[in-house]
Amino acid sequence: MWDYTDKVLELFYNPKNQGVIEATNEPGVKVATGDVGSISCGDALRLHLKVEVATDKILDARFQTFGCTSAIASSSALTEMIKGLTLDEALKVTNKEIADYLGGLPEAKMHCSVMGQEALEAAIYNYRGIPRVAHDDDDEGTLVCTCFGISENKIRRVVLENNLTSAEQVTNYVKAGGGCGSCLAKIDDIISEVKQESAKQNLNTNGAKAKTEVSSLGQQKALTNVQKIALIQKVLDEEVRPVLIADGGDVELYDIEGDKVKVKLQGACGSCSSSTATLKIAIEARLRDRISKDIIVEAV
Ligand code: FES
Repeated sequence: MWDYTDKVLELFYNPKNQGVIEATNEPGVKVATGDVGSISCGDALRLHLKVEVATDKILDARFQTFGCTSAIASSSALTEMIKGLTLDEALKVTNKEIADYLGGLPEAKMHCSVMGQEALEAAIYNYRGIPRVAHDDDDEGTLVCTCFGISENKIRRVVLENNLTSAEQVTNYVKAGGGCGSCLAKIDDIISEVKQESAKQNLNTNGAKAKTEVSSLGQQKALTNVQKIALIQKVLDEEVRPVLIADGGDVELYDIEGDKVKVKLQGACGSCSSSTATLKIAIEARLRDRISKDIIVEAV
């Protein structure tokens, strides 16, 4: 028995906006549909949008879903969420927001929220007359899971948007890997790549932020010991550790004596042959750049 929230059950037993929006001759409005899935594969959703042409606003949204409790609840939630939005606003709705609207979905049912988000995209592209292959969409890119026709782009997007960490989760979200299983190793590789890319991105963002904070502190006055320790810890936590962790390592601040910073390298970093380079490039250079050019980092 699935553990559904009250909101999921409410929208399953009394779905809102179920049905069709017929084509209309009403001036100033246009109707578009988006299809995803196929009945032979288990789930299918057709989303209907009625759009005010002058403003791009979604006046009405309805759905027809062939699927389980969570597929119907996700479709119903989606239609409630997008009514009144412009098409550009609706394109920003993520599958995670659909699941959040429902108070959450069992992880094995998250693919229902993904299906809703994809039907929305398909309807908007149809409305705009944009072929999906011409877009930065899932049909582009290498096919990773031939059993379910899932591309690398689609896996990357769902991993990033939902912070997924295992191939099993990817299967729950987009079904990839749930057939013969021969693509599971490739899915693991994609997850690692996405993790490393986002760690690097965080590094740049946090680095720029920390640099501003540190330089503004430096402009105010020389750092006290307590401030210096706090800053070293902050730079390690926000800029250094995410990169090391993404590579299976880590670092812990052990002690500080004047300009000498003692650290413990952990995990893969502790046993790695290039640990000296990690110490000098990833840690010392970063601390010198952010805090003081006199800092020397040593491993204990
Ligand atoms: S190729 Fe992905 S499950 Fe078979």
